[in-house]
Amino acid sequence: MLGQGSRSGGAVWLVGAGPGDPELLTLKALKILQIADVLVHDGLVSDEILELAPSHARRISVAKRKSRHSYSQDEINRMLVAFALEGLKVVRLKGGDPFIFGRGGEELEACRAAGVDCQIIPGVTAALAAAASAGAPLTHRGSAQAVTFVTGHASTGAEPDLDWESLAKANQTVVIYMGLSQAAPIAARLLGAGRAGSTPALIVENASRKDERRVVTTLAGLVEAAASLSGPALLIVGEAMALAQVGEGREVVETLIQKVRA
Ligand SMILES: C[S@@+](CC[C@H](N)C(=O)[O-])C[C@H]1O[C@@H](n2cnc3c(N)ncnc32)[C@H](O)[C@@H]1O
Repeated sequence: MLGQGSRSGGAVWLVGAGPGDPELLTLKALKILQIADVLVHDGLVSDEILELAPSHARRISVAKRKSRHSYSQDEINRMLVAFALEGLKVVRLKGGDPFIFGRGGEELEACRAAGVDCQIIPGVTAALAAAASAGAPLTHRGSAQAVTFVTGHASTGAEPDLDWESLAKANQTVVIYMGLSQAAPIAARLLGAGRAGSTPALIVENASRKDERRVVTTLAGLVEAAASLSGPALLIVGEAMALAQVGEGREVVETLIQKVRA
């Protein structure tokens, strides 16, 4: 079911575009993209994915920009509602999954408040792609009984108010989104709360994209390793990251597929 639309005929789909590789898009996301009248997309959505929408679909980037005006969340909410009330099929394309640090909940609430039909199409969140391409499981019998996704940035811009005591316990994986520039305070908090400096850690930049880079380190080496990357990236700390492999991810898989087909 792709959704029925509202009385105006318009509707909003909050679509997870996945971590970047178009092959990690769901079939449902692709179907919706192909009927879009308007695409409202983030900066993290790759050009390869934007090209899958019909050429006549209007494309609006609401990426955060340093030099030019960026749309506020409120402006984005109003834009989605206004297009849908005009009777248009609005695809709000977000990197990864719309409900993982993606402000999808706020957009859903705005649609509901305006009586606009809003459907959610989940996407592969960055943590899943990062762990998969490094070959390091987020949960692992005996060394990772839980996985927690946290943000390195609080909405106030200050350090996030996290339960560091709990995150510092051994045998669990902690994935930090938006944490690259906050690597120093995050590592200090985890170490201060008792997590061992020798705990394996992995940083993945541009997971699933052609320019993916991976650094395998430890919690004690996290800050130095983070300094060599510029993002978007995830910091992953946990015993199971001992299984992580360095090297190229997507290229290796594609070369293997070509070999098997040849
Ligand atoms: C605003 S959050 C959006 C997360 C997204 N909704 C998801 O589910 O992956 C943006 C952060 O996600 C992480 N991220 C998104 N895509 C990534 C990728 N391809 N590789 C590594 N990290 C990524 C980075 O930490 C980035 O700063």
